[in-house]
Amino acid sequence: MNLFIKLPFKILLVTLLFASCTNEDNNLPIEDNNVTYTNTVKAIIDVNCSGCHASPPINGALMSLISYNNVVEAIQNRNLIGRIEDGSMPLNGSLSSTQIKAIKDWQIGGLPE
Ligand code: HEC
Repeated sequence: MNLFIKLPFKILLVTLLFASCTNEDNNLPIEDNNVTYTNTVKAIIDVNCSGCHASPPINGALMSLISYNNVVEAIQNRNLIGRIEDGSMPLNGSLSSTQIKAIKDWQIGGLPE
């Protein structure tokens, strides 16, 4: 008889334990710490920005975004992240939320090359 009382209690305990582990921070976006310029950011910029931010820049774009140093400089001094978040760049379209997140994760990670 004792067993039949204890078993459901154990199941309840284990369930509660798992629930408390998995429900935490469920809604926080997970940062990707492995984003580098070479493995992710360069491709996004090449496809979406370098049509105008070429070397030399064309179509009225103010600077090139074709090298690691160009892009780092634009993040630090030209509000690049603000301009992709508010959708004002790229001028002729917009980046996906995944692409924007990748560039923000890159900045949080210290802009590794
Ligand atoms: C169709 C052309 C075009 C494309 C594509 C484009 N830009 Fe621009 N960009 C411009 C022009 C023109 C300006 C200057 C006018 C302005 O600031 O809005 C500019 C300005 C900027 C500035 C502000 C520079 C400053 O010193 O104020 C940033 C940052 C920027 N672009 C980033 C980007 C990024 C990042 C992309 C790609 C995701 C991109 N742009 C794609 C044309 C473009």
